[in-house]
Amino acid sequence: MKKILVTGAAGQIGSELTMALREKYGNENVIATGHIKEPDETLHNSGPFHFIDCTKINTVAAIVKKYRVDTIYHLAALLSAVAEKDPQLAWDVNMIGLYNVLETARTYKCSVFTPSSIGAFGPGTPLDHTPQDTTQRPNTMYGVTKVAGELLCDYYFKRFKVDTRGVRYPGIISYKTLPGGGTTDYAVEIYYEAIKHKKYTSFINRGTYLDLMYMPDAITAAIDLMEANPDKLQHRNAFNVSAMSVAPENIADEIRKIIPEFTLDYKVDPLRQAIADSWPNNMDDSAARQEWGWEPEYNLESMTKDMIEKLSQKLGKEIKT
Ligand code: SER
Repeated sequence: MKKILVTGAAGQIGSELTMALREKYGNENVIATGHIKEPDETLHNSGPFHFIDCTKINTVAAIVKKYRVDTIYHLAALLSAVAEKDPQLAWDVNMIGLYNVLETARTYKCSVFTPSSIGAFGPGTPLDHTPQDTTQRPNTMYGVTKVAGELLCDYYFKRFKVDTRGVRYPGIISYKTLPGGGTTDYAVEIYYEAIKHKKYTSFINRGTYLDLMYMPDAITAAIDLMEANPDKLQHRNAFNVSAMSVAPENIADEIRKIIPEFTLDYKVDPLRQAIADSWPNNMDDSAARQEWGWEPEYNLESMTKDMIEKLSQKLGKEIKT
């Protein structure tokens, strides 16, 4: 049986990935860790949870040693907008944290999943059908750490045979835990505000297309890639994966099919708009499809229906879907 460590387990992806891994591999075999944020009750009560600091290698190594961990899902990271506000902290968390995880994995022979992002692209990248292998010259600290992270993971595979794998996640939409300060957060907020107030003011402008994905698909991507036959993997770090390419007005149109009174207006945030403008409109994820069978289940329509249904239950508002 696998022994898995999840870092960033109280975050947007971590909180749901940990529970999916516990269901698949057994509660006691998945060790959840966080830094500052308290885990929710379900996460806390369903299996081991520890506070660690990934920028301190001893705290990572101690858990790996204690539980004889063989697989690490390393999710602890700062997202794009907060990283741009505190680039020095972003470097420490995103780079030193990853380096410490890789060094620990080298010592204790663990495999490692690390998410990269659409943020690993930037000026000079073809923004439509962004190829798997193309120019990566991002101009944000988040992007710099993501590209450097992809390279570092490749290096640890080639040089030390650490089984590193990763995907370039698009904006992830979910109703359980909020994202922590990314550019694509508007695409989560829009659903909360549609249910609570039937209106939303978007900080990303109309016509700005970005790749998005519903959380169940993001979780499938991580687990399927880690389960994939290594002989078939040409790329490893990191695969383009997408489920839909949408602009704010497309989400609004879909929401209106369920909440007809919903209105969308715009108050553009220049920082996050500039970041969004430098990212792909839509990525070509054929390498992931070919090499390990990636295929998303949700599109904009099915995601919107499920989001509104689950979120209205959570917020205690009755909305017929
Ligand atoms: N959702 C992330 C962000 O906006 C993209 O990887 O920062």
